[in-house]
Amino acid sequence: MKRIQSALFALALLASGAAFADVTVPHLDVGKGGHCVNDPKFMKLNHGDLLMHQRTITVHQGVRGRYSLEKCVNCHASRVNNSVLGTDRNFCQGCHAYAAVKIDCFECHSSRPETVSETLTEIAK
Ligand code: HEC
Ligand code: HEC
Ligand code: HEC
Repeated sequence: MKRIQSALFALALLASGAAFADVTVPHLDVGKGGHCVNDPKFMKLNHGDLLMHQRTITVHQGVRGRYSLEKCVNCHASRVNNSVLGTDRNFCQGCHAYAAVKIDCFECHSSRPETVSETLTEIAK
C-alpha cells in the first residue's frame, strides 16, 4: 500500500508544473532570437496561463498586450520552415509533444509570422 501511495505521489508531481521546471527539452528550435517578452524561466512555467489570460482580456475588453500569441509566433517561428509547428524541433509543437500537452490554438491562429491578424479577421467575419 505504501508503495502504491508513493508511486501515485510521484505521478502527481510529474504532472505538475513544478516538476516540469527540471525537464530539459532536447534540440528545441527557439526561432528568430531576440529577447523573450519575459524571463525565459518564468515563461517556461507560466506561458500557458499568461496566454489564456491575454486571450480573455483581449477578446472581452479589447486590451492588447504583452502576451499576444501573434508576437510569440513572430519570434518563435523556426528559420527553417517559418513556423512554430511542423516537426518535433519546432518551438511550440516540439515541447508540447515532449511534455504530452495538447492545445487547439492553431486551428484558428496562424502558426506562421504575420498572417495571424488576417486569419482572425476571416474567422471573425
Ligand atoms: C519548453 C516547453 C514548452 C514550450 C517551448 C511551449 N510550451 Fe506551452 N506548455 C508547456 C507545458 C509543459 C504546458 C502545461 C503546463 C502549463 O500549463 O504550464 C504548456 C501549456 C500551454 C498552454 C495552456 C494549455 C491549457 O489548456 O491550459 C498553452 C495555451 C500553451 N502551452 C501555448 C504554447 C505556445 C503558443 C507555445 C509556442 C509559442 C508554447 N506553448 C511553447 C510547455 C511548453
Ligand atoms: C475557434 C477559433 C479560436 C481558437 C481555437 C483559439 N482562438 Fe484565440 N482568438 C480567436 C479570435 C477570433 C480572437 C480575436 C481576434 C483579435 O482580436 O485579434 C482571438 C484572440 C486571441 C488572443 C488575443 C490576440 C492576440 O493575438 O494575442 C490570444 C492571446 C489568444 N486568442 C490565444 C489563444 C490560445 C492560447 C488558444 C488555444 C488555447 C486560442 N487562442 C484558441 C480565435 C480562436
Ligand atoms: C522578441 C522575440 C520573442 C518574443 C516576442 C517571444 N519570445 Fe519566447 N523566447 C525568445 C527567445 C530568444 C528565447 C530563448 C531565450 C534563452 O533560452 O535564453 C525564448 C524563450 C521562451 C520560452 C522558454 C523555452 C525553454 O526551452 O525553456 C518559452 C516557453 C517562451 N519563450 C514562450 C513565449 C511565448 C508564449 C511568447 C508570446 C507570449 C513569447 N515567448 C514571445 C524570444 C521571444
